[in-house]
Amino acid sequence: MRPDSTDTAAAARAASLRELIARYDRAYYQFDAPLVADADYDALFQELQQLEAAHPELRTPDSPTQRVGGRALAAFAPVRHSVPMLSIQTETDTTPAGAIAFDQRVRAKLGLGPHDPPVGYEAELKFDGLAISLRYEDGVLVRGATRGDGETGEDVTQNLRTIRSLPLRLAGAHPPAVLEVRGEVVMKRADFEHYNERQRARSLPTLVNPRNGAAGSIRQLDPNIAAQRPLAFYAYGWGEIRGWAEQPGSQHGMLDALAEFGLPVASQRVHGPGPNALIDFHARIAALRDQLPFDIDGVVYKVDSLALQERLGFRNREPVWAVAHKYPAQERATRVLAIDVQVGRTGKLTPVARLEPVFVGGVTVTNATLHNEDEIRRKDVRVGDTVIVRRAGDVIPEVVGVVLERRTPEVGSPFAMWAWLGGKCPVCGSAIVREEGEVDWRCIGGLYCPAQRKQALLHFASRRAIDIEGLGEKLVDQLVDGGIVRVLPDLYRLGVAKLANLERMANKSASNLVAAIEGSKHTTLARFIYALGIRHVGEATAKDLAQHFCSLDAIMSASVEDLCQVADIGPIVAQSIHTFFEQPHNREVVEQLRAAGVHWSELRSQREGSKPLAGMTFVLTGALPNLTRDEAKARIEASGGKVAGSVSKKTNYVVAGAEAGSKLAKAQELGVPILDEAGLLGLVS
Ligand code: IVH
Repeated sequence: MRPDSTDTAAAARAASLRELIARYDRAYYQFDAPLVADADYDALFQELQQLEAAHPELRTPDSPTQRVGGRALAAFAPVRHSVPMLSIQTETDTTPAGAIAFDQRVRAKLGLGPHDPPVGYEAELKFDGLAISLRYEDGVLVRGATRGDGETGEDVTQNLRTIRSLPLRLAGAHPPAVLEVRGEVVMKRADFEHYNERQRARSLPTLVNPRNGAAGSIRQLDPNIAAQRPLAFYAYGWGEIRGWAEQPGSQHGMLDALAEFGLPVASQRVHGPGPNALIDFHARIAALRDQLPFDIDGVVYKVDSLALQERLGFRNREPVWAVAHKYPAQERATRVLAIDVQVGRTGKLTPVARLEPVFVGGVTVTNATLHNEDEIRRKDVRVGDTVIVRRAGDVIPEVVGVVLERRTPEVGSPFAMWAWLGGKCPVCGSAIVREEGEVDWRCIGGLYCPAQRKQALLHFASRRAIDIEGLGEKLVDQLVDGGIVRVLPDLYRLGVAKLANLERMANKSASNLVAAIEGSKHTTLARFIYALGIRHVGEATAKDLAQHFCSLDAIMSASVEDLCQVADIGPIVAQSIHTFFEQPHNREVVEQLRAAGVHWSELRSQREGSKPLAGMTFVLTGALPNLTRDEAKARIEASGGKVAGSVSKKTNYVVAGAEAGSKLAKAQELGVPILDEAGLLGLVS
């Protein structure tokens, strides 16, 4: 093949790759409906990159390879808008009545009487982002600019190119010679959250809200930074238009046409005669507001006919043919009166700002979360500061930032959790810790702290822990809320009578529960340790601890170094265990549980390997089916156990056979576990 025909083939292939990728981008970024697998997309993209590297003349401005990678600018170049970017009259109207007033104004201006036909309107979302003008020449995106003062904006083309839902070339065979598209750049809420999560994980600054995120990203001089911020664009209008053969004559027709050119246009819009459609839209969007993927601050009503728009014209640099109706703000400024710390179910300490009451997002807000120590310090929120509070939907109100210009010399000192709380949990006084690599401080009084009671109880009773069948969430709520169970050992003091009084508790289920609690007293050391809910001690670690130390006392008195000797236990886990048992409160709970009868067979240590019953006391009663009493005694002693004549609290097991007498009754009374012959043989083997 001759070189020029190779070049023609390359050019044709590059053009078809550009078109294909643009189509896939649009499906993916605008409609959330991918047409190809990521790997296939990547392969096409790489093919185009390679083609362009080999034939630099094929690197057109509308190539998808040109979205990212420009150099940082020293400043944005000014752009004079050929048609000024004006704003619209904005009314804060929470009632639908505004639409009627708008219709009346329009009709009066047009000189229409009560018997003249209705005016057609269109209603759109009022996007809460950054207004942008995009200039397409012969279908290719040549420039993008901010609004600036309406006459002159800034050239932010490089950054706008990074918005993947924005077409670099308009779809369709006959684009206008010039088409300036006006719209708003926004950051979708999910993208905003995701971005902030990633930033937080890397201890990097977070964005205050999606709007600032969008505006700040577009105004980045380095396009590589903008490229990392996930942005979107929605078209709602236009500026200069030249050479458009069949330009539609209505607002809604224009937006439909923009969508056909491949521009993102929000699907939430309606048009129809008279103000009724506007009223419905206002109400429907108000209810839907928090489910939209991006923030809006209201709705916009527009006269639909472009001819009527022209007749109505502008007044005070605002169109007479449009009006914006804002919804109640989701962000407001107020003052921080105090910073308190709340203890969550898991012991997590959350700082909370007590606020001068402020009406935001439709309710009066007096508290707002500050998330954690790092967030407060990053935002530098202090008592006395004026802050921006955000409440959107049912989300917990949060402090998004400080209005530093309004900080007075009297504000408090920077927040530090340890100093603020004197190192103690504000609820139970236990020590607080913040582990390396963690953002949260925690109270370690898990078993003892009232804030963590329910959680601790549920965990303790769970199947893989102490295993109390029937002790579920609803019951735990009742027991704790009713003050019946304050500390774990209270569980073992519950009687049928007390339980039967509770909601949805018949006598039968109460006795079942009491039996389950009783049955849970005999457990294993590993389960017991796991049940305590020590941070970082899961089932496997609990088993390792039990096997290594063989007794609870040994674990309780182990130093961090001792604990580190256990395979798979590192310094963080060792420290967590040590700190847990250092707390007098926790030791007390453990002792009380033991006193209540919770017990287990102490494991044999490596040295006493062959004596599984070492340290245990047995009492024999009744006739066993196969073993004589002496044989049974010999077996127990051979395994390291002792046989006593009478039952006491110290008895580990009573072995009962046929016609067992008072010893069996005594064992039942004291809650000593009872074995039959098979059970004994199981222990001995
Ligand atoms: S129409 C000549 N429609 O709200 C009228 N504006 O002051 C042009 N905005 O800065 C504006 N959503 O950036 C229009 N659907 C919408 C809008 C919208 C948001 C912004 C626009 C402008 C401000 C109004």
